[in-house]
Amino acid sequence: MKVKNICCLGAGYVGGPTMSVIALKCPDIKVTVVDLNEARIDAWNDKDLEKLPVFEPGLAQVVEEARDKNLFFSTDIDSAITAADMIFIAVNTPTKTYGEGKGMAADLKFVELCARQIARVAKNDKIIVEKSTLPVRTAETLQTILDSNGNGVLFEVLSNPEFLAEGTAIDDLFNADRVLIGGQQTPSGQAAIQALVDVYSNWLSPKQILITNVWSSELSKLTANAFLAQRISSINALSALCEATEADVDEVANAIGTDSRIGPKFLKASVGFGGSCFQKDILNLVYLCRHFNLPEVADYWEQVIKLNDYQKHRFAKNIITTLFNTVNGKKIAFLGWAFKKDTNDTRESAAISVAEHLIEDGAEIHVYDPKVSESKIKEDMRYLWELKGLTEEKINKKLKQLTVYTAPPQALHNTHAIAVLTEWDEFVSYDWNAIYTNMYKPAFVFDGRNILNQQQLKAIGFVYKRIGS
Ligand code: UDX
Ligand code: UDX
Repeated sequence: MKVKNICCLGAGYVGGPTMSVIALKCPDIKVTVVDLNEARIDAWNDKDLEKLPVFEPGLAQVVEEARDKNLFFSTDIDSAITAADMIFIAVNTPTKTYGEGKGMAADLKFVELCARQIARVAKNDKIIVEKSTLPVRTAETLQTILDSNGNGVLFEVLSNPEFLAEGTAIDDLFNADRVLIGGQQTPSGQAAIQALVDVYSNWLSPKQILITNVWSSELSKLTANAFLAQRISSINALSALCEATEADVDEVANAIGTDSRIGPKFLKASVGFGGSCFQKDILNLVYLCRHFNLPEVADYWEQVIKLNDYQKHRFAKNIITTLFNTVNGKKIAFLGWAFKKDTNDTRESAAISVAEHLIEDGAEIHVYDPKVSESKIKEDMRYLWELKGLTEEKINKKLKQLTVYTAPPQALHNTHAIAVLTEWDEFVSYDWNAIYTNMYKPAFVFDGRNILNQQQLKAIGFVYKRIGS
């Protein structure tokens, strides 16, 4: 079977970039990305490419080239489902905030809604592709819902998890380490796998495409993220030990990483990992392990999250202790709010919990991030405080301690300390002499990403603290 028409449910960080690249690389396939959120779809259709809802290096060029040729963004979900031979599900699967499995299990309600809508609308056979990261065996649930509600048409469910990292999504899609496709060993399952292999073969070689059974594919995605996150928690655990022993974590990481069995990547000590995936997926894995009565395995992985919470907390606490045990009424500038550079995504960003901690101690936070808007930053804090059950009055009071700036000088002037929360390249090239002149003394810099020039800052007069030395 040759796919001619693809639809994707969910125009987010994964659905948007992935479908844009598929459209660009497969000019014979019509790709329609749909979403319930009308504002988001309008932004994807905006003539001004600066206004795309997702910031990702290289994305604007891809959209510019493919949009309105064979790439379309729409809110007409039913029509897109009807026309498609292959439907990707890329809606979000956040950690449940209520009921059974609260704070751990993945919330699959959006995925289930998608399956019900597909079943209701579809008039001919379709291949359904899970793109969202899902607990192992979700394909079974999808298949059951599709088969019990469909109009007698055949649905074949595949798992095709994304491995793109935000900030490098386009390059990750163009030059994927691997594409993973999980499907059933039946003849119709094999045919569906082949149809998806043919899509990716437009730009990837056969060695980059791995085929497994559905359950291995679902579990590989969850555990790939768990392994990556574990490396960061491991090096962050060592950063605390380095600070206590005068070892330097960057030197240690370099020494460890030159062992080819370990490798140099993903060993950068930091204020803690963030992003939409790591925490959610590990919590999900922990939940699954408990479900299958494997408490030791669950505890093992849960420690990766606990260490990350510890690292964020430790960073905030270090700021308070260094500023003479209180930050009450002091102005602390945050350079960066996104969970990493080159993205406007802030989900689970370390900045959020560091801000919470400092605001609790009475600090005034001045934030500058090159790509994150004021409304997003305030929304992040509001969401956190609402989850913690704070009253509207308390939330509004705390929000007054947070000011967002659109240019760095204003954010940094007349502050007691600067904290680097995201590793944006532009921070390194700032005029640190001028910044120093305009700060209260002693002027402190807390580098949560170890990106600034230590010698230079110390020579200027800053009290400079970094992670793990
Ligand atoms: C994705 C995956 O879904 C998640 O499982 C993976 O681990 C990370 O990436 P992401 O693209 O980052 O999520 O999420 P988001 O940017 O929130 O996009 C999801 C989109 O789906 C939103 O635009 C939302 O409006 C839309 N949506 C959600 C629907 O169209 N219908 C729904 O029922 C629910
Ligand atoms: C991750 C996975 O890398 C990707 O394969 C998967 O599909 C989705 O989840 P993403 O969350 O976009 O991607 O970003 P990633 O580059 O993995 O970074 C996650 C967090 O770890 C960031 O906050 C980053 O700053 C932090 N990090 C990363 C470190 O602190 N140190 C490192 O050495 C690497």
